[in-house]
Amino acid sequence: MMRLSGLIVTLVLAATAARADDLPPGPMHDTVVKACAQCHSADVVSAQRKTRAAWADTVNQMMANGATVSDAEFDKVVDYLAKSFPAS
Ligand code: HEC
Repeated sequence: MMRLSGLIVTLVLAATAARADDLPPGPMHDTVVKACAQCHSADVVSAQRKTRAAWADTVNQMMANGATVSDAEFDKVVDYLAKSFPAS
């Protein structure tokens, strides 16, 4: 019985980890998840490393694809991405 409950705990933890994303916490986290993790997973975003200018291009391109980012959010989204996933 102890073994079984250990297994259940492991499974629950694994399921929780699978739902988590690699986007760092911050004021823009939820906005970026909402705007950027609809068509593809957040991993597609967090796997990239880009300069601020390149992130701005990417967000523009995603808006052309159909992403919804308001004018007010655009700079903050780009700042968040450039800070979280900078080109090394
Ligand atoms: C309407 C659907 C859609 C939304 C919303 C969307 N994307 Fe994408 N994204 C795509 C598609 C389709 C691709 C693959 C083709 C391409 O590169 O355009 C992609 C590819 C990417 C890539 C990998 C290619 C590259 O240019 O580096 C990144 C990074 C990316 N998206 C970031 C974002 C970010 C950041 C947001 C939020 C601002 C976002 N996406 C929102 C459709 C979307």
